[in-house]
Amino acid sequence: MAESRLIHEIYLSIQGESTFAKFVPFPETAKDLAKLEKQLNAEGRRHKIGAILVEPIQGRGGTNIPPSGFFKLLRKICDKQGALLICDEVYTVFGRTGHWFASEHFDITPDVICLGKALTGGFLLSTCAGRADIMDRAWPDSKGEAIHTSTFLGHPVVCAMALASLRELEAKKLISRSAEIGEIFLVQLQCLAKRLGQLRCRPRGRGLMIALELFNDDGTPAESIAMAVTKRLLKEGLIILPEGESANILSITPPLTIGKSHIARFIRMLGQALEDAYP
Ligand SMILES: Cc1ncc(COP(=O)(O)O)c(C=O)c1O
Repeated sequence: MAESRLIHEIYLSIQGESTFAKFVPFPETAKDLAKLEKQLNAEGRRHKIGAILVEPIQGRGGTNIPPSGFFKLLRKICDKQGALLICDEVYTVFGRTGHWFASEHFDITPDVICLGKALTGGFLLSTCAGRADIMDRAWPDSKGEAIHTSTFLGHPVVCAMALASLRELEAKKLISRSAEIGEIFLVQLQCLAKRLGQLRCRPRGRGLMIALELFNDDGTPAESIAMAVTKRLLKEGLIILPEGESANILSITPPLTIGKSHIARFIRMLGQALEDAYP
């Protein structure tokens, strides 16, 4: 339950409260925004909100792309309440969605961002970056005590890997490549979905963060088909993952270096697996 709340909702950090955090729903369409604004304002009247923590595009929650206007609304609420807007970009950063940061899609500047995963291309490093005035206040000069510590904090080898990884992203222009090749990928997935039936297969994505949501013919989430297809493709050497509340969404996040021929092969194999899995 705790995890499904975390991945499907926005996290409000409440100052001076024993409950510490509240969750509000992640919006699906622009119609949800008015209700969300009401809810956030009501929370703000009840408590002092310290921060809003949100994924710009939800990853494990189902590649959920928020409606336009969502981040402008969060920015407005944070500015009004004196709260921080924290974007969890652990999944979405460094070209995954076709921009350096997924928050760029929504034209807002968060106060703090959490980064990990692609920061090193998969090795042990994550980081939290923020405006200097916020970070300096949270971590003032130490008088000798450990203000913040962790087992692998700032390991020099891994930091060198992160720098090398960032240089590669730039040198190979992998951020813009993700946007371009992601569009080609999505178009091919849309063609496949058309062939298999758009009521069964609904693709979406930004850059190379792509998903295919699967439904049974009665409109219910097709989690067993998603699992069957995932297992079959794994046996054939391709790694995808079911995601979302009902685990009926296939998550497709290939390396940013993926070639067009790999995409064509993947689409063929996925198409065959889906055709065999649907009754
Ligand atoms: C959006 C998001 N945030 C945070 C995490 C956890 O990151 P870490 O393992 O570095 O704590 C994940 C892991 O999948 C994630 O997808």
